[in-house]
Amino acid sequence: MGQVTELGYIGFEVSDLAAWERFAVDVLGLVPGAREAGRSLALRLDDRVHRMLLEHGPADDLAFIGFDCGSAASLDELRAALAAAGHTVVEGDASLAARRRVDRLAVTHDPAGNRVELYVGLAREAAPFSSPRLRSHFVTDAGGAGHAFLPTEDRATLLAFYQAIGFRISDYIRQEVAPGMVVDAVFTHCNPRHHTLAFAALPSPKRIHHFMIEVADSVDVGQAHDRMQAAGMPLALSLGAHPNDHMFSFYALTPSGFCLEFGAGGRLIEDDARWEVVTYDCLSTWGHKPPAPAQSAA
Ligand SMILES: [Fe+2]
Repeated sequence: MGQVTELGYIGFEVSDLAAWERFAVDVLGLVPGAREAGRSLALRLDDRVHRMLLEHGPADDLAFIGFDCGSAASLDELRAALAAAGHTVVEGDASLAARRRVDRLAVTHDPAGNRVELYVGLAREAAPFSSPRLRSHFVTDAGGAGHAFLPTEDRATLLAFYQAIGFRISDYIRQEVAPGMVVDAVFTHCNPRHHTLAFAALPSPKRIHHFMIEVADSVDVGQAHDRMQAAGMPLALSLGAHPNDHMFSFYALTPSGFCLEFGAGGRLIEDDARWEVVTYDCLSTWGHKPPAPAQSAA
């Protein structure tokens, strides 16, 4: 039975490519890759040709998520399993494979309507990766590009889809964040990264609540936080830490209105057989507060 090995790339449709480049490159330290002026910009986190793909358009939202299948045989098995479960899966043509810089891919949609691309062979750059903004580096390795938190009205159906392609439950967080409003999130993994996908029933105008990228040194989190403030870019949530993946992070509000979590110190799940699934009662151990409303002058 095939299974995905990592979230390898993520695509966003964005209305302001220039604002995204300032945010992602100048402030957060991602490195620009291929671009088509006014149409698209690839962003790098490591030696892969891209990990984040920005395409110009009005949606300002998630456009697609690419999952590495590890091998062509695994991709074929996943295709067959999804088709048998009633999902439409279409082989990507050569032009799409060339745009994504993969050997081969198949395209389907999850039950929430998110476009899912199952691929093999994401290209690498020959030159070593380095970001002029970071003293360390982005953490990818076996954990892939990062994690995505997806709001959904039907968590069980969405979870079942991703379990069918290899995701396992890491843990749960259930917290009453306001009187009568409970966030009930499930976190899932497909490699040692504590979670690659999380799902919760949240009212959301966007397909994605946040995407997280990780750096190897917490000083890089602090310095990116300083650069956010120096650039006058808005935070969605202050510095803080999560009880389940132990991530020390802040949440930036992207130019598209969803969030990007920037963190360090994420916990790994090294051995599924010895991992205990638990339920936490708070989303954050400390911090992660929304910005205080601006004080009006008396
Ligand atoms: Fe997160």
